[in-house]
Amino acid sequence: MKDYEKPYIILSAAMTIDGRIASKTGDPELSDEEDWKEVHKLRTEVDAIMVGKGTILNDNPKLHIKYYDHNGYYRIVLDSDLSIPLHSKVFNYQPELYPTLICTTNHIPEEKVRKFESKENVEVIKCGESEKVDILKLMPILKQKGIKKILLEGGGTLNWSFIKNNLIDELRLTIAPWIVGGKDAISLVEGVGFSKMDEAPRFMLVNIKHRNNYVILEYTAIN
Ligand SMILES: NC(=O)c1ccc[n+]([C@@H]2O[C@H](COP(=O)([O-])OP(=O)(O)OC[C@H]3O[C@@H](n4cnc5c(N)ncnc54)[C@H](OP(=O)(O)O)[C@@H]3O)[C@@H](O)[C@H]2O)c1
Repeated sequence: MKDYEKPYIILSAAMTIDGRIASKTGDPELSDEEDWKEVHKLRTEVDAIMVGKGTILNDNPKLHIKYYDHNGYYRIVLDSDLSIPLHSKVFNYQPELYPTLICTTNHIPEEKVRKFESKENVEVIKCGESEKVDILKLMPILKQKGIKKILLEGGGTLNWSFIKNNLIDELRLTIAPWIVGGKDAISLVEGVGFSKMDEAPRFMLVNIKHRNNYVILEYTAIN
């Protein structure tokens, strides 16, 4: 996909040394205070934060900004059957500052759409004829809304959709000092994966930092 057709995508995540972004029970508490500050700083530099439905159901995040003054941005959630609870924090925490876009499929009845859009500053975008949201179709729609830069904050299943379609421009990974193991613990990237290394997108390491036993890696895409 051409750069002018899509927002610039930065994938941001905290993971264990063994590449898990949560434990097998879904415990996502990997970041320390310093890391949160850096993530929130990064949030001040984008037009939207995007997560998948699994992250909303597991973590119920506010996707807001602490520590810095800010005028808000879009929160974007991908939910193919529009089933995340209406009491989720993305709908109810400071909607005047952070409008929420719920991206779903074309099969969703209008009545359900109206229920979600009755919440303050919530818009439903129907995008995709199959069972999942069509992210290739979604990219130009978001760009046309003026969203130039997105911070993709997971989880592993949504990250795979972006990696599979070669849509990531930049990675910002924090490696937290644990090895948690578990075949059911969510990895940075889930999905079926590529068969060969030469099918997978490659990234160039542009920065390494470390502090308090944490390592921060920054990469850009090699196209
Ligand atoms: N450490 C970190 O930085 C970090 C950050 C974020 C999340 N997490 C962790 O990651 C876990 C959640 O990850 P997850 O993999 O279960 O869920 P996820 O990636 O957050 O959400 C995946 C879901 O989004 C929906 N979706 C709709 N269209 C999609 C598309 N085109 N591609 C992919 N997904 C699409 C699908 O559900 P439907 O088909 O039902 O709509 C899919 O199952 C949680 O444990 C959370 O704590 C960690």
